[in-house]
Parts: sequence; C-alpha cells; structure tokens
Amino acid sequence: MMDEKFLPDKELLVKAVSLLCEEIPAGRADRVSSNFPVDGMDSSEVIDLLAPQILADAAKLGAPTSIAHMDPPTPTIAWAVSLWNAALNQNLLHPATAPFALEAEKTVIKWLAPLFGMTGGHMTSGSTVANLTALWAAREQANVEQIVMSDKAHLSLEKAANILGLPVLKIGTGSDGKLLVNKLPDDLSRSVLVLNAGTTSTGMIDPLEAIGIAKWTHVDGAWAAPMIFTKYAERLKGIELADSISISAHKWLFQPKDSAMVLFRDNESASNSISFGADYLNEPNIGVLGSRGAKGVLLLATILSFGKRGLAQRIEGCVRNSEILSHFVANDMRLNLFANPETAVVVWRPSEPDYFDLVLNGLPEGSVSTTRLDGDLWFRNVFANPNADVETYLARLEEILEKSSTL
Ligand SMILES: Cc1ncc(COP(=O)(O)O)c(C=O)c1O
Repeated sequence: MMDEKFLPDKELLVKAVSLLCEEIPAGRADRVSSNFPVDGMDSSEVIDLLAPQILADAAKLGAPTSIAHMDPPTPTIAWAVSLWNAALNQNLLHPATAPFALEAEKTVIKWLAPLFGMTGGHMTSGSTVANLTALWAAREQANVEQIVMSDKAHLSLEKAANILGLPVLKIGTGSDGKLLVNKLPDDLSRSVLVLNAGTTSTGMIDPLEAIGIAKWTHVDGAWAAPMIFTKYAERLKGIELADSISISAHKWLFQPKDSAMVLFRDNESASNSISFGADYLNEPNIGVLGSRGAKGVLLLATILSFGKRGLAQRIEGCVRNSEILSHFVANDMRLNLFANPETAVVVWRPSEPDYFDLVLNGLPEGSVSTTRLDGDLWFRNVFANPNADVETYLARLEEILEKSSTL
C-alpha cells in the first residue's frame, strides 16, 4: 500500500495556497513545542499550526517599505513552480534524476551566458559558492597563486581564498568605494583579479577596464549583473572580457533562494578543470555542489513570464526609485550622500551624527539597513523590490527630520 503522506493531497495543497493568499496575523497559534514529537500529526493540523508562524512571522520582502537588503520578493510564477519542484525533488547530479530540469538549466544558461560574453556555466546555491567555484577554476586552469581584490569585496571571496589556500592581496578603494586601479601591483601574471559589479555595501562597480591585466579576472556580479538587461547595461561595459562571472539569481533576478550561477568565458576548459567522475555517475560532477535541485526550472519560468523587457522594466524601476532617494539626500543639507548610486544601492546618513538613532528608529521597520565604511556607520537602502514606495518613505523621512530639528 502507498504511504499517503507521499501522495498528492489536493485539499491540503489548496489549503496551503489559500493561506498564502491571505493576510494572517502573526502569533495567532501555539508555538511549536520544544520537545521532539514522538508521533506525527495530521498534515492539515501541521499547516494550521505553522501558518501563523511561517507565513506571518516572516520578513515581508514585497512590502512597499522593504528597501533594506538585496533580497527581493519573488514572482507568483516562481511560487507555483516551486511547489512542483518540491514535489518532484529532482537532482541535477545525475541526468536520470532530472531529465527536464537539466535541460531547463542548460536553456537558461544558454540564454544568459552570451549576454555577458561567456560560453556557459552552471547554477549554484548562491554567489558564495559561485565565487568559490570561479576562483577554484582560476587556480586549476590558470595556476594563479594569489587573489587580488578590493577592500570592499564580499566576505565570500575571503572564504574562498581560505578554502583554496591562496593568499589575498587587498587593494584600497577611493572615496567612492571603487578599487583604485593605480594601487594594483605591476605584475599580475600569477594573480586572479576580482572586480565587483555592485559591492555589497555601496553597490559600486569597480573599474571594469582593468579586466585582462591579470592572469584571470573574475567579476563578482552577484548583485548588479542583471543590469545587463536594462538601459544601464553600459555601466557593465567590459564585463564580456572577464574569465568568470558570478550572478545571484535570488537577488535581482527575483528568484527564491538558493539560486545563483557561475559563468565562464571558456566554459569547457574551466568546467573540465573542476570536474570529478565517480563510478555511480554517468557524467562527471562539475563544480563544488554534489546533489542540487532544479533552480533552473524556476528561472526558466520567471524569464518566460517576464521576458527580457519585463526584467528590464522591473530593474529600471528599482534604479529610478534609488535615484529619487539619492536626489532627495543630495539636495538636503541635513543629509549626506556617500556617492551617487550606480546600482540602486543608496548609502547616506544625517549630517548631524546625533540624529542617526532618531532617524533609524523613526523609519518603518525593515526599510533600512546599516553598513560600516572605513569605520563610519551609514544607512543603506537597496532597491531590489519592484513594489517599493519611495515617496511614502521620503515623506516619513521628512517628518523625522523636521521633528529632529525642533529638538
Ligand atoms: C557582491 C556579493 N558577492 C557575493 C555575495 C554572496 O552571495 P550569496 O549570499 O548568494 O552566497 C553577496 C551577497 O550579498 C554579494 O553582495
């Protein structure tokens, strides 16, 4: 007899979907007991128990006030296909366990890679793994002995260096947060140079004209690579000469986590250098991950739903919102702008340091993050959410500033 917990249960699924479409107040039901349950519950009761916690007690990334982090809301098409993915549980490690899912990933990589001048690559769980994979290929294929990057590069690159046993040379950045090319060593013939296309703290793009001066150049485009679809693609000029690129689809391609990719200019050689075969596999396993899920299916569905134009419109809307905020800050004596935003990350703070906490506490919850730059604390807004309402945010900021001037 079939185990019914593994069979499609339409009533349960419809209930779960209905709850997803409702506004559920947080903390309505009992919290989960701290004791490991001995006997299982009815699945419908599990849904009742968990809905107020999982659905309600969650960061609302699509709320109009959600402009604090690089985490976007996800499109409904991705929710629908995620449900299929969870049910099917494909494994891209083996073609037999993912017939269509492998094809879907190949399709999206084939669509995306040429836009960046790359010949191929594969999906990873995030850009931490994408960066590690790229630097691993650089070490194996180009025999690099050192990683050179700006002091604003993401911590994942330092992790990768640690894992790969490669020393790191950190290069200083200018007042705009970009790597200073004139601080690079003359001889990079045994180095991999990492350039950021959107630093995590400030969204700045390092000078991409430096691509090619090192033995291998990796562009960490985790955040801003999707600008290639937009009228701002010019800001990524030169990226097509990189040897490898990381892109987080779970950032500006609006994908559920864990979805990212590493792309290579010479995919065949790079992939061969980081492939391992095993007796139980038909094809060698490429890259860091072993078993991995069908994230390409979600990306395929999203791209089909949005098209290039739809992606561009949404990203351009985010950039427009970031410019409204940055213009407001730049034109207000009470505020300081770190630099003109390049990729919809706006870093700013009150001119009067004493007002920092007042502003922070007055802004809506989840609407702003903070970052430290060369020791100083700044506010940071990231426009990853197409539903952000920047005008209401600015109205609130104006109110707080007016109130603070009367203190
Ligand atoms: C520039 C940059 N690189 C790499 C990463 C790591 O990506 P992930 O969190 O997907 O592992 C991030 C994450 O924010 C990032 O901003």
